[in-house]
Amino acid sequence: MRIGILTGGGDCPGLNAVIRAIIRKGEGVYGHSLVGYRYGWKGVFEGDSYEMSLEATRGLIHRGGTILGTSRLSPVMVEDGASKVKEAMKSDNIDVIIAIGGEGTLSGAAAMSEAGVNIIGVPKTIDNDISVTDVTFGFHTAVQVATDAIDRLHTTAESHDRVMVVEVMGRHAGWIAAYSGIAGGADVILVPEKPFDIEKVCEQIRRRHGKGSKFSIIVVAEGALPLEGTMKKIEYEVDEYGHQRLGGVGYRVAREIEARTGFETRETSLGHVLRGGTPTAFDRVLATRYGIAAIDAAHNEKYGSMVALQGTEIITVPLQDATRELKVVDSELLEVAEVFFG
Ligand code: F6P
Repeated sequence: MRIGILTGGGDCPGLNAVIRAIIRKGEGVYGHSLVGYRYGWKGVFEGDSYEMSLEATRGLIHRGGTILGTSRLSPVMVEDGASKVKEAMKSDNIDVIIAIGGEGTLSGAAAMSEAGVNIIGVPKTIDNDISVTDVTFGFHTAVQVATDAIDRLHTTAESHDRVMVVEVMGRHAGWIAAYSGIAGGADVILVPEKPFDIEKVCEQIRRRHGKGSKFSIIVVAEGALPLEGTMKKIEYEVDEYGHQRLGGVGYRVAREIEARTGFETRETSLGHVLRGGTPTAFDRVLATRYGIAAIDAAHNEKYGSMVALQGTEIITVPLQDATRELKVVDSELLEVAEVFFG
């Protein structure tokens, strides 16, 4: 068999561990040949691919980013995308493509599968918003980096009697904010799932300070939105793929808090720091298990499926099920966090 691999969407720690596992079992156990497409779907359309070998992909488990490069191009954005993908696969003699990506990449993969392209998906995203899988690799690392940062902000907030607002990634779902906020002992957590009232946020901070605390930590997901009419709407730029460039809500929240409460407030945006660097041990293991399951699915011609973690088991699910809706933070988790607010 000849198997193509691509990584699409934002990079995330653990991508190289998936690639390594696919090649180790694909070439080492099954004897298949592996082809890497550079920069996600772009590489498929531009014929930008190369032979990948076990020898050349050693030492990858701890490396962040993706050795294949990535882009946000989706085949559904390209005219006659499915036919072009089929032609490209035919000319490269590719039997199946393993697409490792988040919501955009996987919905593109699902559309290609419906159009008859042999494809297998692997869920990745630090945002953890893919349905049908309990967790995506990259999330655990991002939460750890954010928690370490919140711990550090705690000591400086305490020394200066300040309110610290920390903005973390989380476009449609506030998983990183909720987990790092709980782990870091945040006093308020703002997520996209629940539009916030800035006056209520200020009230919580006043209440806390009224009880003797002199500092507060507020964790804000980049996709958090103020309740209609409570704060000026933030206008975001859109990139070449129609993807909004988020970022800035933390700064706005910080300014509002300082103006309304009089407490000195600072803002830190963690942004892409959460996505860079080495994966945690948990993400290395999860990525490795996903890679092995993906190459098994390719070997067994389970096309149109995505690998997923459910409980402690790695299973395959239909790609369509995984991309139907996003997995957002459940109210039970938010209720756990709220016990510690104010
Ligand atoms: O991949 C998901 C994500 O990390 C989002 O949380 C964030 O909004 C987005 O990527 C940022 O994308 P870019 O790297 O294109 O700015």
